Amino acid sequence: MIYSRITGTGGYLPDNVVTNKDLEKIVDTTEQWIVERTGIHKRHIAREDEYTCDLAEQAARNALDMAGLSPQDIDLIVVATTTADQVFPSTACLLQARLGIHGPAAFDVQAVCTGFVYALSVADQFIKSGSATKTLVVGAETVSRIIDWTDRNTCVLFGDGAGAVVIEASEEPGIISTHLHADGAFEQLLRVPGGISRGYAQLQEGNAYMEMRGNEVFKMAVTTLGRIVDETLAANDMQKSDIDWLIPHQANIRIINATAKKLQTPMDRVVVTVHEHGNTSAASVPLALDVAVRDGRIQRGETLLMEAFGGGFTWGSVLAKF
Ligand code: ACO
Repeated sequence: MIYSRITGTGGYLPDNVVTNKDLEKIVDTTEQWIVERTGIHKRHIAREDEYTCDLAEQAARNALDMAGLSPQDIDLIVVATTTADQVFPSTACLLQARLGIHGPAAFDVQAVCTGFVYALSVADQFIKSGSATKTLVVGAETVSRIIDWTDRNTCVLFGDGAGAVVIEASEEPGIISTHLHADGAFEQLLRVPGGISRGYAQLQEGNAYMEMRGNEVFKMAVTTLGRIVDETLAANDMQKSDIDWLIPHQANIRIINATAKKLQTPMDRVVVTVHEHGNTSAASVPLALDVAVRDGRIQRGETLLMEAFGGGFTWGSVLAKF
C-alpha cells in the first residue's frame, strides 16, 4: 500500500498587520464585538503590490526546505485558491515558473475555505495511484481583494496568507483517509456574485465582493463539521480519543469550540490561529498545521484531523498520521 506522508510544512503571512482597533476607524464596529463574536484580534493583509502567488511561493519554499527537497524533485503542484492572480495561467502554473520547475502537472483547485482539504485529497489520490511521488500542495489567498471594506459583516473576519505541505509517497501512513462534500444549493448564503463569464462591466458595478448571511452560515458550519467528524471516525473504525490533534479551518473561535466539544477534544489539543490570522480561507488549515509543527506541538506519529467548511457550500476532512 502506498501512502502520502507529509514531509514538510510551510507558511507565510504578509508583514502588514491590521488590528481590530484599526478596523474601528473604517467601519461601525468595536474591538469587543469582534473578539467576543469571532475570537479574532488581528489579521495580516497583503500590500497593494503583493499577490497570491507571492505568498504561495514563500510558503512553498519553506515547506520544501523542511522536506529537504529542491523544487526540481516535485512532480505535481496543486494550489487551492479563490483569489487567483490572473484569469490564466493558473496560480499553480505561475508558482511553478517561480520555482523553476518545468514539465510536471500544475493546476488550481477552487473550493473556497475547503480548498486546501480538497487539494490535499486530490494530491493524495495522485500518489496512491502511482501518478506522482513528491507533490507540493498549497493553500494561498488574498481574501482582502474580494472584501468590501465598508461592509462590517465581512471585513472584520478575513485575512491573507499562504500555507503549504510537501507530501511524498511512503510505505508508512501518511494520509489515512479523505472525505469531500459539496452542496451548491446554498449559494445565496455565501458568495461573490460576479465572475468572468458575466463580464468585467458587472464586476465593476459592485458584484466583485463577498456577500455572507453570517448567522445562517455559522449554524450550517457547526452542524456540518460535527457530521464530518463522525463520518471520518466511522470510516476508519476509530474513537474520538484516537485523535491527537484537531486542525480546524479558522473561521470563528465559536465554530472551533463547537467542533472540539463534539470531538470531546480539550482545547489544548486543538490548533488555533484564528486570533492572529483571521479567516485566511484555503490558507487557514495549512498555516495552522505549519504553526503547530514548527513550535513543536505536533510530533511525528501523531494522528491529525484536519477539517474545513466554506463557500459552495463545500466541506471535508483529512485524517493523517504525521
Ligand atoms: N461589528 C459590530 N456589529 C456587527 C458587526 C461588526 N463587525 N457585524 C455584524 N454586526 C451586527 C449585526 O448587524 C447584527 O446586528 P442586529 O442584531 O442589530 O441586526 C448583530 O451584530 C448580530 O449579527 P449576527 O450575524 O447574528 O452575529 P453572529 O453572532 O452570527 O456573528 C459572524 C456574526 C461572526 C459573521 C458569525 O455568524 C460567523 O462567524 N459566521 C460564519 C462565518 C463562516 O464560517 N464563513 C464560512 C467560511 S468563509 C468562506 O468560505 C469564504
